[in-house]
Amino acid sequence: MTDKIKKIVIPVAGYGTRFLPFTKSIPKEMLPIIDRPVIQYIVEEAVAAGIEEVILITGYSKRAIEDYFDYNLELEYLLDGKGKTAEKKLIRDISDIAKFIYVRQKEQLGTGHALLQVKELINDEPFMVVSGDDIWQGSPSRLELLRDTYHKYQAPTLLTLERSNPTDYDKYGYVKTGEQLDDKTWTVTDFIEKPGQAHAHMVDQATFIGYVLTPDIFPLLENLQPGKGGEIWMTDAIHQLARQRQVVAVNGGHLNYYDCGNKMDYLKAVTEFGLKREDIGEEFRNYLKNLNL
Ligand code: G1P
Repeated sequence: MTDKIKKIVIPVAGYGTRFLPFTKSIPKEMLPIIDRPVIQYIVEEAVAAGIEEVILITGYSKRAIEDYFDYNLELEYLLDGKGKTAEKKLIRDISDIAKFIYVRQKEQLGTGHALLQVKELINDEPFMVVSGDDIWQGSPSRLELLRDTYHKYQAPTLLTLERSNPTDYDKYGYVKTGEQLDDKTWTVTDFIEKPGQAHAHMVDQATFIGYVLTPDIFPLLENLQPGKGGEIWMTDAIHQLARQRQVVAVNGGHLNYYDCGNKMDYLKAVTEFGLKREDIGEEFRNYLKNLNL
């Protein structure tokens, strides 16, 4: 098996119902953090971690994502004519950053079903899977951490955080950890999708779709029975994988996490990123200070 992680799979076919009515016609992955969409932050993070190929699992009404990462020759011509070379470079660089591949998931039967759609695109190599609406900030980055942990233990790797509010157990997949391998890495013995508070005592850390997987996940996905809510979950296949070989969990406690499909997290991301911007940060800070709250 080739060892370098060159591919990332991003399922983006979901309807984004938490952000209706906006998501009626615009994909939630295109929500802007000031002037660039959430999905761009994810792709840039992936490229910085060595990814060369971005595989997006799309669906109906997700065309805006494909257009965003394509050339827009008409707009480039227009910008050229106006002498706006910096703007032209800005929009072209978005397309040149990686190789983009799109696969349609025709019906939404779960995260595991989504991943199965790209089976033929993954050779004998490890690959990453991330969600299309999460932004993670920190050093090392989330994907550098996943990459380096995979290489260190030569094992499929899951990103985790401590989450123990009662409602969290209905929101996230949780791992039960076994042996501690280093200060932030454990072996995984069980992986349970949304265990519910009643089963909180059986699990340890919450997971987020931030995985390094290996192609031996595909036969498991193909033979999987529908699980929670009748859906086919990546979680269940990874749970089985952990019975066959070592799977590890790495804690990303040093990272800032914004679930941009959640209104409050989205607002936090816009505010915090806005404050850090060189062009508008200071003006925005003064504006916030003068708000009569
Ligand atoms: C998915 C995963 C779950 C994870 C969550 C947040 O659930 O199946 O394990 O904790 O994303 O990343 P969903 O939000 O699609 O129901």
